[in-house]
Amino acid sequence: MHFTFSFAVAAASLVPSAFASIYSLSDNHVGKDFLTSFTHETIADPTHGRVNYVSQATALSKNLTFTNSNTLILRGDYKTKISASGPGRDSVRIKSVKSYDHHVTVFDVKHMPEGCGTWPAAWETTENGWPDSGEVDIEQCICCLLPGTNWPDSVNGKGPNQSTLHTNANCNMPASRTQNGVATSNVCDVVASNNVGCSVQSTAPNSFGTSFNANGGGYYAMERMNKLVNVWFWPRNGAVPNDLKSGAKTVDTGKWGTPNAYFPDTSCDLDAHFGSNNIIIDLTFCGDWAGLPAIFNGAGCPGDCATYVNDNPGAFSNAYWWINAVRVYT
Ligand SMILES: *[C@@H]1O[C@H](CO)[C@@H](O)[C@H](O)[C@H]1NC(C)=O
Ligand SMILES: *[C@@H]1O[C@H](CO)[C@@H](O)[C@H](O)[C@H]1NC(C)=O
Repeated sequence: MHFTFSFAVAAASLVPSAFASIYSLSDNHVGKDFLTSFTHETIADPTHGRVNYVSQATALSKNLTFTNSNTLILRGDYKTKISASGPGRDSVRIKSVKSYDHHVTVFDVKHMPEGCGTWPAAWETTENGWPDSGEVDIEQCICCLLPGTNWPDSVNGKGPNQSTLHTNANCNMPASRTQNGVATSNVCDVVASNNVGCSVQSTAPNSFGTSFNANGGGYYAMERMNKLVNVWFWPRNGAVPNDLKSGAKTVDTGKWGTPNAYFPDTSCDLDAHFGSNNIIIDLTFCGDWAGLPAIFNGAGCPGDCATYVNDNPGAFSNAYWWINAVRVYT
């Protein structure tokens, strides 16, 4: 009976999907864990944003970083009008102490920063020697997002809800591949692509900004191995795989279905282009991408991005990440 049952289950699971890819839980970052498993980076924003990244002590005392047993909040200051000659609006950028090579990262996010000028990102890289160890942007979103505005997704071919790889030379993606998203650029080399990288825009509803938040957020997952990088998104009320949702001790990405973004190794030796990377979660304002007039004004935001950020603290009350967990499987 037991034998027959297990055999039937095993046989059935072989039929529909590809081979199993089973990973074990390595780090489950929840609530207060983030205060020791991540550091607050007080660096000048490499993307030249109108931001002042503060230390952990400052972030805790100003309540820009808040944790309890099951919650992490990271936010920009929304109380202070700031001087045009000062460094920018206080905000937070955290980086995992550990770095990861082949792995799966699951982001269980309840709310992401939204509002004119906001540029939140959840991503992985090695800052020293960038981009020699590669960069995977799991989710970023620009001006994330005013209700009712139309995103100008034709602007430079850059979209708001996209997954991107950035590498050094000789890494390209095939134009045609099996994924739910839409490839917007296939050259991953930052020099050859003028820092655009190879991007896939999500077509999933509620995958960023106001509609993501109104829907209770959702789950982003990224798998990196020698043969591929995959990125998935499920809205909270979507068909979320049980192992991923429950924070199981093992997950099988072979059963997670077609990813939003699929980056295969056909014209890119992924192990040669990607090293052991840190996880970074940040919120900047304006800067090289979100601050471009075509992007900022194109999203329906008024005037000049930096001036808007300086003068309108109240516009940033929804500029916060609310993260239930970041789980890493190896
Ligand atoms: C700090 O932020 C948290 C999360 O937003 C909130 O629940 C709490 O009331 C805030 N604390 C203070 C002292 O404002
Ligand atoms: C993500 O972007 C695509 C392409 O711009 C769009 O069609 C889709 O609705 C977006 N998803 C959202 C808003 O969640």
